[in-house]
Amino acid sequence: MAPSATNLILLIILSIFINIPQILNIHAQQQVPCLFFFGDSISDNGNNNALTTLAKSNYPPYGIDFPDGLTGRFSNGEIVPDALAKFLGFANPIPPFAAARGSDILKGVNYASGGAGILDESGIQLGSRISMSRQLLNHQITVRRIQNMMRNQTTEKNNYVGRCLYVVNIGSNDYINNYFVPNTQTRRLQTPDSFAETLIQKFSQQLRTLYNSGARKIAVFGVGLLGCIPQVIANNPTNASGCVDFINNAVQLFNNKVKPLVDNLKSDLNGAQFTYINITSISSADPSVLGIRVVNASCCPVSRQTGQCIPNRNPCSNRNEYIFWDNVHPTEIVNIAMASRAYNATLPSDAYPVDIRRLVQQ
Ligand SMILES: *[C@@H]1O[C@H](CO)[C@@H](O)[C@H](O)[C@H]1NC(C)=O
Ligand SMILES: *[C@@H]1O[C@H](CO)[C@@H](O)[C@H](O)[C@H]1NC(C)=O
Ligand SMILES: *[C@@H]1O[C@H](CO)[C@@H](O)[C@H](O)[C@H]1NC(C)=O
Ligand SMILES: *[C@@H]1O[C@H](CO)[C@@H](O)[C@H](O)[C@H]1NC(C)=O
Ligand SMILES: *[C@@H]1O[C@H](CO)[C@@H](O)[C@H](O)[C@H]1NC(C)=O
Repeated sequence: MAPSATNLILLIILSIFINIPQILNIHAQQQVPCLFFFGDSISDNGNNNALTTLAKSNYPPYGIDFPDGLTGRFSNGEIVPDALAKFLGFANPIPPFAAARGSDILKGVNYASGGAGILDESGIQLGSRISMSRQLLNHQITVRRIQNMMRNQTTEKNNYVGRCLYVVNIGSNDYINNYFVPNTQTRRLQTPDSFAETLIQKFSQQLRTLYNSGARKIAVFGVGLLGCIPQVIANNPTNASGCVDFINNAVQLFNNKVKPLVDNLKSDLNGAQFTYINITSISSADPSVLGIRVVNASCCPVSRQTGQCIPNRNPCSNRNEYIFWDNVHPTEIVNIAMASRAYNATLPSDAYPVDIRRLVQQ
């Protein structure tokens, strides 16, 4: 039965108080047939739940603001992939590879794994994780399954995955849980610049592999200001910036190489559209505009070792006033704000050459 006009108005009014993004998408059209996510704990929505690792979050208070509660998301509520899926008109979040079943995969899969890096060895001290290379192997399994499901639809099957959006957000663990782990061999053997180059070489191969699996519209996120996260500040001397400059400077060397990488891949790979999401630009926003007041402390009480929430301890109640949920990961309000600017850029420097909204229209 169709809702009457009064019911609809009531629904709209209720929704304004409950959740504004939901109402915006009631009639929204899905802008791409499917959505695939690759990355680390910023994007993981449950792939680590069954792994033996410190990088898991399927215990309270994680998910306190998420409708399905404990899922393995490293936040109080939505993460960037959830918000991007909403902006792109999807009615439901994209399922994790570990739980995606049957025809669900036709809408996309999330392969991200907490602790994972571009390099296979990154994050090893946390335990098991699904590195970027293994996420790409998992994606090949999905593509074969999709081709099987569509084997009778000859016109659809050849370009279906080519019309989807691919979002890659990885590299933080190559720094935090590899290069900047005290006394590692990597750091003795490589300068920050040569390490950034090592990452870019491997990343380039990985993005080519993704293209070879049929991807054509690919959004690549840069690495954030790791020298400003509370866990890093707690363990290193800070500079006048309030952050750990040598870590931010090293990460910037990597980010500076992603833009030329995106240009090279676009010219090498026929029909490919790549875009770079500039998280440095996005996170330069004034957080007080969002009502955020606490920028240097976590909302939940954290473990000193991992920076993650201590199980079952009460978090702060004013979660929308914090940037950081635990000592490493952002709150839902920040995740939605980041996804919003990646989708619809506020500044020209937020995305190069186009934001995700324009990427999917091309
Ligand atoms: C594909 O077509 C064949 C022959 O017409 C049929 O036996 C099979 O069940 C179909 N498979 C799917 C997945 O629809
Ligand atoms: C940042 O702080 C470190 C340690 O206190 C110091 O060695 C370094 O010179 C500082 N860097 C800058 C750019 O001020
Ligand atoms: C990313 O944003 C920063 C800060 O606004 C800017 O300095 C840098 O040039 C941007 N990078 C690209 C590739 O646009
Ligand atoms: C955060 O900043 C506030 C205000 O500058 C300061 O009072 C507080 O001690 C800081 N907290 C931490 C954990 O550094
Ligand atoms: C994009 O953002 C601008 C403001 O920055 C807004 O006016 C516009 O409606 C947004 N477009 C979409 C499609 O969300």
